[in-house]
Amino acid sequence: MTRMIKIFDTTLRDGEQAPGCSMNSQEKIEVARSLERLGVDIMEAGFPASSPGDLESVKQIAGIIKESTVAGLCRCREGDIDAAWEALSGAIAPPRMHLFLATSPIHMQYKLKMTEDQVVENAVAAIRYAKKFCSDIEFSAEDASRSDPDFLARIFGEAIKAGATTVNIPDTTGYALPEEFGRLCSYVMTHTPGAEHTAFSVHVHNDLGLAVANSLSAIKAGINQVEATVNGIGERAGNASMEEIVMALRVRKALIDCDTRIDSTQIYNTSRLVSKVTGVKVQPNKAIVGDNAFAHEAGIHQHGVLANRETYEIMTPESIGIPKNRMVLGKHSGRHAFEERLKDLGLEIDAENLETVFAAFKDLADRKKVVSDRDIEALALGVQAAVPETWTLEHWAVNTSDELGANGVVRIRRKDDKPGVLRKLVTLGDGPIDAIFKAINEIIGKEPHLELFEMGAITGDSSAQAETTVKISFNERRYNGRGVSTDIVESSIKAYISAINSMEWELAKKP
Ligand code: KIV
Ligand code: ZN
Repeated sequence: MTRMIKIFDTTLRDGEQAPGCSMNSQEKIEVARSLERLGVDIMEAGFPASSPGDLESVKQIAGIIKESTVAGLCRCREGDIDAAWEALSGAIAPPRMHLFLATSPIHMQYKLKMTEDQVVENAVAAIRYAKKFCSDIEFSAEDASRSDPDFLARIFGEAIKAGATTVNIPDTTGYALPEEFGRLCSYVMTHTPGAEHTAFSVHVHNDLGLAVANSLSAIKAGINQVEATVNGIGERAGNASMEEIVMALRVRKALIDCDTRIDSTQIYNTSRLVSKVTGVKVQPNKAIVGDNAFAHEAGIHQHGVLANRETYEIMTPESIGIPKNRMVLGKHSGRHAFEERLKDLGLEIDAENLETVFAAFKDLADRKKVVSDRDIEALALGVQAAVPETWTLEHWAVNTSDELGANGVVRIRRKDDKPGVLRKLVTLGDGPIDAIFKAINEIIGKEPHLELFEMGAITGDSSAQAETTVKISFNERRYNGRGVSTDIVESSIKAYISAINSMEWELAKKP
């Protein structure tokens, strides 16, 4: 019988923790909803002890998600466990606490400064403490792939006795090779006392580009759960890419005879959403979800695919949710067709935002002949994942030339401004965008650091909308913003103001 492998998604924790992948709490909720539609068994929503913001968003997600287990990460410390429980205690679905402690000689000696016995004692005490609150406990032996296999079996045996219901073998540094990792998993599973009372999991990083191969090798060795992220985002070279594991199991089911509960037709939408909210683009040749993954340029390939798709395609684009030829939407499209398209794109818009998105669609359709799915995604996300607007853009203008340089004027409004208050400034800059951003900084009285500014066209046509991604940092926190407009300057200003609004919102929440 086909063995079912649990998918433990850590996009919102290990993925979000990676530089440049931060999300605000609204965006995390959107991603969590999308992961639930995808059918992940467990979603790790954050590391509650790491910041009050993380605790709050784990709490919000646990209070919304019904179909997946929501997990929170903690070190083997009472304070971390208390924070995780504060975040998870109101969960709708029974939650999971994920405890970790390093077990490799190098981590124990230099990072923890603990002996093996002390590490076991610490893990057991923490699991017993966590077990008082929560029945579903996962214990991870950080840097397991560089740990002594017999020590792993020993600590897992003690962890199971103390109440761990899943034990996890992370390849924290992405160091293992597939055969070796499979052997390690088999060894640990057969030598752990009480192994029959627990589930075994792996969590693999991609430093040598082997994260998916290692995860598949562990599955073949008999483990029951894999930890992965959408688009493979994560620390350094990232984590194992969830969509690649899922599709490898599905496409090669006859050989591996394992499967997951994932609805693969939701993969493409989820991948697009994660890319949009993090501002991290998917490389074009990325397996499964890259723009070129199903593109056939070479004549000989096109000829083969036209004769029979399977000549060069081992799976269909539709199987991951890339639509076949959908009807084109434009200014004559009605509300019903628009709502259907939102549904097809996996975009759940609540009633109060639907009006706004539909109005924005109509407005865009007046300016563009054809409104693409990507245009619709951008519109919907701009409304649905938006944080409250502390600042709104009222007016802008730029003047720029090669001889005279650039200046810009901008007028923005603060949400609590009394009628008649005018916040308008003209500045010079190193280019029109720089001039406007400087003016905005002066008006808001803060000077965030611009970490990234990226612009692309949503579609390839001449009336394409420009989509800008901006990342700013302020007081050691990063904030993302997106802006979409048929005008490149306006798209940039909108992106900057949306990042500023994310920043203001977080700052306002701080005690
Ligand atoms: O990479 C790692 O070891 C981790 C653990 C917390 C599971 O992320
Ligand atoms: Zn990790």
